[in-house]
Amino acid sequence: MIFEVIVSTVDEHDVVHIAPMGIRYIDDFVVIAPFKPSQTLHNLEVTGTAVVNITDDVRVYAGCITGRTNWPTRPATHAKGRVLEAAINHQELEVKRVVDDELRPKVYLSQVHRSSTKPFPGFNRAQAAVIESAILVSRLHMLPEDKINAELAYLQIAIDKTAGPRELEAWQWLTDAIDEFCSHPAKLN
Ligand SMILES: Cc1cc2nc3c(=O)[nH]c(=O)nc-3n(C[C@H](O)[C@H](O)[C@H](O)COP(=O)(O)O)c2cc1C
Repeated sequence: MIFEVIVSTVDEHDVVHIAPMGIRYIDDFVVIAPFKPSQTLHNLEVTGTAVVNITDDVRVYAGCITGRTNWPTRPATHAKGRVLEAAINHQELEVKRVVDDELRPKVYLSQVHRSSTKPFPGFNRAQAAVIESAILVSRLHMLPEDKINAELAYLQIAIDKTAGPRELEAWQWLTDAIDEFCSHPAKLN
């Protein structure tokens, strides 16, 4: 199984980097697989640490993919790094092994600390639709325009039926990015 989370890392100058990533839990490890080139991969290699953040504020997913990366963080307590303030829970992790690959290395990390600040509120279809749409936006350069439009039309149903203000804001950022791409495809990717 793959779980869509927010990975925060820091570079050699302590500058935080926040990116949505699909992670796997394999045995006692968290496995992150960044496509090269990747700032997350660079940071994992130089600091050997990461924080996996679970958040129900899907604006973070949509924001990171549309250039809004300045999300509030606080220092992690048991590993070098930063915790997303919007996280309902997080895991602080240390790199144990990197399996290199030309395209997509796998980084195996183990947990040094975990903390929870809020209970999981339940599944929300609009939040899932925002995450699907954020993935779509991260792949716009690979997809035909009719597929983009068909997927958006389907995801819009969940937005119309179940979104709150945060999901609507995130959806707007993503649809603006898609409109911009479709009118100037060369500019974005
Ligand atoms: C839900 C979601 C999951 C993603 N999962 C991955 C992933 O597993 N690996 C990856 O390289 N990019 C993934 N992306 C795209 C990255 O977030 C995006 O390309 C980001 O700019 C990567 O930054 P980096 O330089 O830290 O790799 C995902 C995007 C979304 C919206």
